[in-house]
Amino acid sequence: MVIRKFIIAGNWKMNMTPTEAEKLVKELKETCNRKDVDVVFCVPAIDLLPVRLLVDGTNIFVGAENMYSEDKGAYTGEISAPMLVDSGISFVILGHSERREYFHETNQDINKKVLKAFEYNITPIMCVGESLAQREEGITLHWIREQVKEGLEGVTKEQVASMVIAYEPIWAIGTGKTATTEQAQEICKAIRDYVAELYDQDTADTLRIQYGGSVNGKNAAELFAQPDIDGGLVGGASLKPEFAEIVNFDA
Ligand code: 13P
Repeated sequence: MVIRKFIIAGNWKMNMTPTEAEKLVKELKETCNRKDVDVVFCVPAIDLLPVRLLVDGTNIFVGAENMYSEDKGAYTGEISAPMLVDSGISFVILGHSERREYFHETNQDINKKVLKAFEYNITPIMCVGESLAQREEGITLHWIREQVKEGLEGVTKEQVASMVIAYEPIWAIGTGKTATTEQAQEICKAIRDYVAELYDQDTADTLRIQYGGSVNGKNAAELFAQPDIDGGLVGGASLKPEFAEIVNFDA
């Protein structure tokens, strides 16, 4: 049986000026010091380098919240994989539902970014998840399988085994309405089973799958106790000292 290391990532979204970031990270780097969990702070582009410098020498990784699929060129406002690598950034969130919704990113756009991240040895955290309407319509699984399949087009099994997929039901994001542990486990397991179908069981068993959507210090332990949930992608609660309670959950 494969033992997967937990991975708990904060997604700051468009929050935290560099000054605010410094204050928060100085506090969290003292309190998020658990060695058996990979901790990642995914932060706005302008905070990447200062935060990375602040966590040097700790076991905290820094991730970007997005990147573009080209190496360089006339793409005003975008940041590239080589820029991230040069700044010591080892993770990148790709395909977050907010990027899909507000910036119209498609599975194909996300797939190009996933491939680019691997080209530069950056670990993608690829997000998938259904809307409330899709859940009510009963098409959750169909939708998520499509996101997984199209997002992973051309990705090798070794790469899949090394990446992270985050299951984030859109209706649970920022709403305080967490999926029940049963709902979260059901979909995370379905994602793993589907990866086994697309690749093989070993690949699926090595892949880490996070749950995201209103994770907090109180519900983290129960969610992370589920057999197919290997940690969380945390929005609101990652902006507060409370994030350490999530990282230090009772295993
Ligand atoms: P919340 O934890 O604020 O619900 O956000 C979840 C999320 O979108 C993380 O990527």
